[in-house]
Amino acid sequence: MEKLSVMISEEDVLARVAELAAQIAKDYEGKEIKLICILKGSIFFTTELAKRIDLPIKLDFMSVASYGNEMTSSGRVKIVKDLDDSIRGEHVIVIEDIIDSGRTLSFLMDMLKSRQPESLALCTLLDKPSRRVVEVPVDYTGFQIPDEFVVGFGLDYAQRYRALPYIGMIELV
Ligand code: IMP
Ligand code: MG
Repeated sequence: MEKLSVMISEEDVLARVAELAAQIAKDYEGKEIKLICILKGSIFFTTELAKRIDLPIKLDFMSVASYGNEMTSSGRVKIVKDLDDSIRGEHVIVIEDIIDSGRTLSFLMDMLKSRQPESLALCTLLDKPSRRVVEVPVDYTGFQIPDEFVVGFGLDYAQRYRALPYIGMIELV
């Protein structure tokens, strides 16, 4: 059995997304940026963020699978769907739902860097710093959260709960 409770309300998530969008618009003033949405978890965060960034924006999508069970990742990452276009010479911001061990992002950022973007940054909605195994430099963080399993706003538990408009907490009871 799973018990679901609210960790961060929809109102609080959207207010924080607006703050991040304003910060990004300021940092990249006068530039065009490309947001890379890491599917599927980042889809809701990416769209809400993109709508609020007052700059010319391109979007591209990548889907990765990290091997492991529902609640852990092993660090071995497979690209299920690669970007449609080159990022060479572009200002790229990777949009992630959550950084846990850091293994997925560490792999991804290294790989994207090798494709020679003009700049490469990382923006995550959630961060569980206490779980970090591999160090990843994060440029924009929505919320630092404790070591709880969260769902909603794109995040899943066995593919469920992604469409919840808030960040919920799952407990197995
Ligand atoms: P990492 O490689 O351990 O940093 O794993 C990051 C990925 O694990 C995320 O993109 C999520 O897909 C998944 N993940 C980690 N923690 C959670 C959680 O609390 N809820 C849902 N998915 C999570
Ligand atoms: Mg997942």
